[in-house]
Amino acid sequence: MAQRTTVVVLAAGEGTRMKSALPKVLHCIGAKPMVAHVLAASRACGADRLALVVGPGREDVAAAARQIAPGIGVFTQHERLGTAHAVLAAKEAFAKGENVLVLFGDTPLLRPESLRALRAALSDAAVAVLGFRAKNPKGYGRLLTENGKLVAIREENDATGTERAVNLCNAGVMALAGKHALSLLAAIDNRNRKQEFYLTDAVALAVERNLGAAVIEAPEEEVMGVNDRKQLSEAEAVLQRRLRDAAMDAGVTLIAPETVFLSVDTKFGRDVVVEPNVVFGPGVTIGDNVTIRAFSHLEGATVGSNARVGPFARLRPGAKLGADVHIGNFVEVKEATLAKGAKANHLAYIGDASVGEGANIGAGTITCNYDGKNKHRTEIGSNAFIGTNSSLVAPVKIGDRAYIGSGSVIVADVPADALALGRGKQVVKKNWVKQGAKQKAKAMPAKQKSAKRKAGKKAAKRRKR
Ligand code: UD1
Ligand code: CA
Repeated sequence: MAQRTTVVVLAAGEGTRMKSALPKVLHCIGAKPMVAHVLAASRACGADRLALVVGPGREDVAAAARQIAPGIGVFTQHERLGTAHAVLAAKEAFAKGENVLVLFGDTPLLRPESLRALRAALSDAAVAVLGFRAKNPKGYGRLLTENGKLVAIREENDATGTERAVNLCNAGVMALAGKHALSLLAAIDNRNRKQEFYLTDAVALAVERNLGAAVIEAPEEEVMGVNDRKQLSEAEAVLQRRLRDAAMDAGVTLIAPETVFLSVDTKFGRDVVVEPNVVFGPGVTIGDNVTIRAFSHLEGATVGSNARVGPFARLRPGAKLGADVHIGNFVEVKEATLAKGAKANHLAYIGDASVGEGANIGAGTITCNYDGKNKHRTEIGSNAFIGTNSSLVAPVKIGDRAYIGSGSVIVADVPADALALGRGKQVVKKNWVKQGAKQKAKAMPAKQKSAKRKAGKKAAKRRKR
């Protein structure tokens, strides 16, 4: 049987530089918490078991991790005594001699390929570390080599001037061979400036014991850690670039890719065109040949093939558009299904509704779904025609092919094939203008009349003077 691997994700740090009530690893990039990215990469690299180390009282992080990876083992590091100490908090998860892959919860851009390479390096080394060439190595552990071989990792605080000049740095990701993991971790002491148990000391120990240590290099962009909001935005930028490239590789046209924001789970069919300034929140699926026009915002929505959305459209969670549906400018759709060929081209709110095939929703139509306490549904039949500026007061049903006269407030069901009018009756007064000022004055309310009389007298006085 192949050697099994346990991934241990460290997330017991305090993340104080985020200045946030939310734990650092639950901050999102690509609309998904950082820790979820790390767990996804862990799974994708073929790990058999996942473990997460959290600080005391971090039920929120534990719960989020269990939701993402139901089988995960969550361990608490009661005192924050260093990275080696943190890994040992999860030792139960590799007690059967599994290989150990240590990752940090705040390093969300790691690719599974690099993790696989690191695992493979264990074939002839007890310890393998992920290294990178840092533009600015400040703060990182330096990878010290002799004759091209890794001999130790020196933390910045403990490094000499010459050691600090090294720009090959420790990304923080380490693989330990199962056979030696526990004994190496147990041998690590805390004799250093910070008096912490440094995981990085495993390298010198392995070399000392002639067990071998190896480095796998990765691009700096991939190993960047997030400590503050600025770095969070930098990580987001890297991820967005990756997501846009992947979308274009899969056959999506992004006219101005740098202005389109995607989520890790955004799904596109073929020959989709996305115009500039579109935001895809989590949970969006787009079918083939769809055009999403400029300045639209979508989340939790499904869009059928050949549909047209936007410009300036908003699809909220539960919006399900069938094939050939048109949603135009300033139309908001929430928790509503629009069947094939239905259209709402301008200024409408369609919430908690179902709209049948080929139905036409006029400009200004509102489904009045909320009575202040509860939400109610509006059902619109196929090929129904809802005249402009109609209010459909839910719960209400409009039958197939029925017409609603524009400006109607519809409070009762309308059967199929009927016309419903729910608006004030128009009054026309012929020759009203020609009937002159006298007639008009008569129509004026008393108060207004006296005000007008006073104003007239004043004007007369002025004229006399
Ligand atoms: C660590 C590495 C350093 C590397 C850098 C890369 C060590 C000793 N140093 O330094 O070589 O260049 O990352 O970013 O490993 N954590 C715990 N419990 C602890 C201490 C840390 O869970 O007791 C977790 C933190 O939440 C974090 C990770 O371990 O996810 C790294 O800890 P941090 O203090 O940020 O280490 P660095 O000083 O950045
Ligand atoms: Ca760090």
